[in-house]
Amino acid sequence: SPILGLERVPDPVRATRRARRVRDETVGAAAERFYAEPPQIERGWGALLIDTQGRAYVDLVNNVTAIGHSHPVFADRVARQLNLLNTNSRFLYDAFAEFSERLLAHSPDPSLDTVIPVNSGSEAVDLALTLARVATGRRDVIAVRESYHGWTSAADAVSTSAFDNPHAADSRPAWVHLVDAPNAYRGRHRGPDAGAAYAREVADLARTLTDERRPAGAFICEPVLGNAGGVIPPAGYLVAVAEAVRADGGLMISDEVQVGYGRLGDAFWGSTLQGLVPDIITVAKAAGNAYPLGAVLTRREIVDALAREGTFFSSAGGTPVSAVAGTAILDIIDDEGLQQNAARVGRVIADGVRALSERHPLIGAVHGTGLYLGIELVRDHVTLEPARDEAARVCDLLLGRGFIVQAASERQNVLKVKPPLVLTERDARRFVDALDAVLGEVD
Ligand SMILES: Cc1ncc(COP(=O)(O)O)c(C=O)c1O
Repeated sequence: SPILGLERVPDPVRATRRARRVRDETVGAAAERFYAEPPQIERGWGALLIDTQGRAYVDLVNNVTAIGHSHPVFADRVARQLNLLNTNSRFLYDAFAEFSERLLAHSPDPSLDTVIPVNSGSEAVDLALTLARVATGRRDVIAVRESYHGWTSAADAVSTSAFDNPHAADSRPAWVHLVDAPNAYRGRHRGPDAGAAYAREVADLARTLTDERRPAGAFICEPVLGNAGGVIPPAGYLVAVAEAVRADGGLMISDEVQVGYGRLGDAFWGSTLQGLVPDIITVAKAAGNAYPLGAVLTRREIVDALAREGTFFSSAGGTPVSAVAGTAILDIIDDEGLQQNAARVGRVIADGVRALSERHPLIGAVHGTGLYLGIELVRDHVTLEPARDEAARVCDLLLGRGFIVQAASERQNVLKVKPPLVLTERDARRFVDALDAVLGEVD
């Protein structure tokens, strides 16, 4: 009970049964949850999750909690602010200014000098699309297949992941135009020219749209394809896309909700890693460490275009508590060197899994960088047939060994590795060993 922070731990079997039944009944069939037989998690600490039986799991999937679970500095600062004031951002208070300045201090370029706080990634993407529309006067948007950008109507419109919506590719509204995911491992273009080849497709589409008198107002994508399992676009892709889109007067939206905030290790932003200064950046998840906070980072003149249409207000966006949460997270990422930890510990996992691939033919590729990795499992290295069932089995067996990992991508054959950035090297090595053992069973 003291470990879980509960006065009295309920009977684990009965409590879990109740939690599942009530949750499934109250939320309904569309709600996603992990595992057919999920543990009941009631406590977190660092990169660990602890269930009601007192068992600790290494949390390898929770990119929402970048600074880790129950971070004491975060908890104290948020609790202190909750005891002082929480209200909406129409009032003047210092926390709002402090968060905006702190986020701007991480801006990848002086041109991105304006912040609008919101309360989720979906809201940030929705706002980014609105900003692009009002700034360019254009409705049409180019989006990338196999992506997920959120659930609000506009964010959903540019989301095409067949896993989240099997009919996505055929049911986009007329203003959304799709290009292939720039995946040089299993996509149509591979090899050293893949980046240029994928970018040419975007340029061709942009030109066609202009010829049809509906030029694209924006191109939106994740700078590292998180939803596809951490696939890094081939070299030169985003820069070439930006050149083509901007030549026609469109804006580049970099959705950094999953991959930004230091997770990639070598850069704070995914777009920086790709050599791109976007026009609009969206953040969430890590920005609030599971507290509802997102933000849009952009240029002043783009926000000014929104002001011509009216005012912008989101009740829970940038409240004193969420602003304090956002500032605390950026402080902790910097003070504890979490971006550097992501680079170091991520390398331990990537190198370890690449070494395993010599013994385990199921491993087809290790995507990503830092602590956003995707371990792609395939049945055949030539056909790249996705090992979907094997991936599900690996996840179940890893759970038994105390590691929480989930499969990602359209094909559900990529093991996502996106833990809190506080993951230790020791736990990283233990994970590689556990994966070795589990692959031995599944092979
Ligand atoms: C890349 C990306 N953009 C946007 C979103 C939406 O964020 P939220 O769930 O906070 O609305 C997600 C959520 O998974 C995401 O992965």
